[in-house]
Amino acid sequence: MARDQAPQDLRAVSEAWSSVARGYHEYWSPRFRPLLVRAVEAFEPPPLGPLAVPGCGPGDEVLLLLEKFPLRTIVATDPSAEMVSFCRGAIRKAGAATALCTLGRAEDLSSTVHQAAGVFSSFTLQLLSDPSAALIDWSTALRLGGIATAIFWPRPSPESSFGLLASAIKKVAGEERPDWEPGALASLEKAGLALRRDERVHTTFEHGSPGELFGAIVDKGPLRALLDRRGSGVVDAVRAEWLRSLGTRAATRPWKDPVEARLWVLEKVAEPEGEAH
Ligand SMILES: C[S@@+](CC[C@H](N)C(=O)[O-])C[C@H]1O[C@@H](n2cnc3c(N)ncnc32)[C@H](O)[C@@H]1O
Repeated sequence: MARDQAPQDLRAVSEAWSSVARGYHEYWSPRFRPLLVRAVEAFEPPPLGPLAVPGCGPGDEVLLLLEKFPLRTIVATDPSAEMVSFCRGAIRKAGAATALCTLGRAEDLSSTVHQAAGVFSSFTLQLLSDPSAALIDWSTALRLGGIATAIFWPRPSPESSFGLLASAIKKVAGEERPDWEPGALASLEKAGLALRRDERVHTTFEHGSPGELFGAIVDKGPLRALLDRRGSGVVDAVRAEWLRSLGTRAATRPWKDPVEARLWVLEKVAEPEGEAH
C-alpha cells in the first residue's frame, strides 16, 4: 500500500474514477491515443514472462499491447470497479484469450503479478501518493532483466494550461502536488531499476473551449476527486481563477492545447533493497 494514503482515501479515489469512467473513455481516450501509441512503441520487454498493466483504466493500452504482443499473457489492474468493467468489455470485444483484468491498486501490483517480463503504465504514476514506493513494487513484480515503461504527466511548465491549472488549485484550494520526479529518479537504485530512456512526448489536444476542457477534467477525469472532497464552490472558484489566468489565450475556437508527457523506460537490474527473493 502507498505509505501515506489512508484506505478510505483510496476508496474515495476509486469511486471518483468509477463515476467518471464512461466520460473518461469517451472524451480522453481518443486524445491520449497518440501518447499511448508512442509509449507502446518504446516498450520492449524480454520474451519470457507475463506483461502487467497497473492503472489500466478503460484498457486502451491493453488493446494496443494485444496488437503488439498477441501471444503474451497480459494482466491489467485498476482499483475502480467501473474501469475494470470497461477494460474487461474491451478485452472481450477484442476476442483476446491472453489478457485479463482484475481489481487492484497500482501500488500493489506485486500482490497480483510475479516474475513479469514487463510493466506498462500510462498516466497513473503521477496520481499515486508515493510514486517511488510504486516503482519499488513494480520492480518486485518484475523478473531480473524485465522492463517497466511508464508514461505520465510530469510537473507542468508554469505557463502551460496544466501549469496554470496547478497554480489556480494552489491559490484557491491550497492543494499542491509535490515535485515527486527527482525523488523517484533518486530512488531507482534502491528499487533495483536502471533508467534506460527518459524523454518528452508532445501532442496537441483539441477542445471546444477551455471551459469544455475544465469540465472534462472535473466530470470525466482526475479533478472529480477534488469535487467530491471540497465541493462545487471550490471547483467553480478554481475554474474562474484558471480561465482568468489564461487571459486572451482562452479566446480561440476550437481550442488547441499543446501538452507534454514524460516517458521512462526502466530495466530491472537487481532486486529492490530489503526485498526477499
Ligand atoms: C488517468 S487514468 C489512466 C487510465 C489508462 N491507463 C489510460 O492511459 O488511459 C488513471 C487510472 O489509474 C487508476 N489508479 C490506480 N491506482 C490508483 C491510485 N492509487 N490512485 C489513483 N488512481 C489510481 C485509476 O482508477 C484510473 O483508472
